[in-house]
Amino acid sequence: MKVLITGGAGFVGANLACYLSEHGHKVTVMDNLVRRGAELNLPRLKSHGVKFVHGDVRSAEDFVAMPQDTEVVCECCAQPSAIDGYANPLFDINNNTIGLLNTLEYARRCGSGLIFWSTNKTYAGEHINKLPLVERETRWEWDRAAIAAEYGANLPAGFDPEFGFSADFTVDGHDHSIYGLSKIMADLACQEWSDAFGVRTVINRFSCLAGEWQFGKSAQGWVAWWAIAFRFGLPLKYIGWEGKQVRDALFIEDICRLVEREMTMLDALSGRVFNVGGGRDVTLSLREATALMERVYGHSAPVHYEEDPRKADHCVYISDTRQVTAATGWRPQVGVEEGYERIIRWVRDHEDELRWLYVDSPATVQPARPMSMAAG
Ligand SMILES: NC(=O)c1ccc[n+]([C@@H]2O[C@H](COP(=O)([O-])OP(=O)(O)OC[C@H]3O[C@@H](n4cnc5c(N)ncnc54)[C@H](O)[C@@H]3O)[C@@H](O)[C@H]2O)c1
Repeated sequence: MKVLITGGAGFVGANLACYLSEHGHKVTVMDNLVRRGAELNLPRLKSHGVKFVHGDVRSAEDFVAMPQDTEVVCECCAQPSAIDGYANPLFDINNNTIGLLNTLEYARRCGSGLIFWSTNKTYAGEHINKLPLVERETRWEWDRAAIAAEYGANLPAGFDPEFGFSADFTVDGHDHSIYGLSKIMADLACQEWSDAFGVRTVINRFSCLAGEWQFGKSAQGWVAWWAIAFRFGLPLKYIGWEGKQVRDALFIEDICRLVEREMTMLDALSGRVFNVGGGRDVTLSLREATALMERVYGHSAPVHYEEDPRKADHCVYISDTRQVTAATGWRPQVGVEEGYERIIRWVRDHEDELRWLYVDSPATVQPARPMSMAAG
């Protein structure tokens, strides 16, 4: 198929572009290279025969230079940190919401489908964190006895302590983060454009994504960041919950397999919303990630601790993947150990580039981000 990937020089976008190109699809990527490290993906894209166009989704005009016969747009483009938005909320809204509207209009003109990378941050911390928890040695878990006592048979819609959260969970409430707000508005716009204008949209509300070529940082992309920081002796930090907060991780190979399948099912899946992650079998806490790194690298590393959790952070979030499996037949296959093995191999094989990025020039590599609302 003819594919446009916005944010296609980023972690997910570039991996997906290479994967789809290897599978015979004709791929163009559009990116403004604002993410630190994205420029390191350009040679990979080129060697995979992927066409790169420097463009910004905030500018409707930039879509004029894109192919007009695109069959599916993969929208992997965002300011993805849940922390940064509090400093400049309109930036996230402009980038992640208005940019998506331009992308939807482009898809409408092309008659293409659109697969949207939504997020678990569409669910309010207020509701996620009020579910009763029990503290274990390395992680927090849902306290099933307390949940049964409090809710009986009337569990919140979309929550099952056996499986986690499905897309039926409420998106109301507060404490989504500004990033989460920008994404839920975009997520709803996809649903509306599907209904009102027939754009075949598929929304994946992803949990914690991880893999090779993820230029993680402490504010975003923590799974790869943990391996990179361990390797180069960079400062690690637990923020709240004793470092026992839990996520389901989804590794890049599984993301690519799902999206290629969804691309072939656009008519059947149009307007659908799924929660997507590694699910209950692929979960880890920060402390468990530390223990795994200690085993792999053969040494420990100091981890600083800040007591107060980050605003809008979730303590335990696990995706209930049953809806996406029922609709597509897809299941995550890569487990935590295997996923981390791949990341660590990538770190080892690209030490020079990563050292340059993280150690030698950490302050100068980050491109200046335009602070105005105008498209850069
Ligand atoms: N990484 C995760 O854990 C995670 C979890 C849930 C959802 N998501 C979503 O997945 C998508 C991909 O995330 P990622 O981890 O690959 O992030 P990333 O930062 O690695 O990639 C995003 C890319 O978008 C580009 N970009 C940003 N603003 C742009 C703009 N205005 N115009 C053009 N390009 C722009 C950046 O330069 C970068 O290359 C994002 O939409 C994110 O919100 C990520």
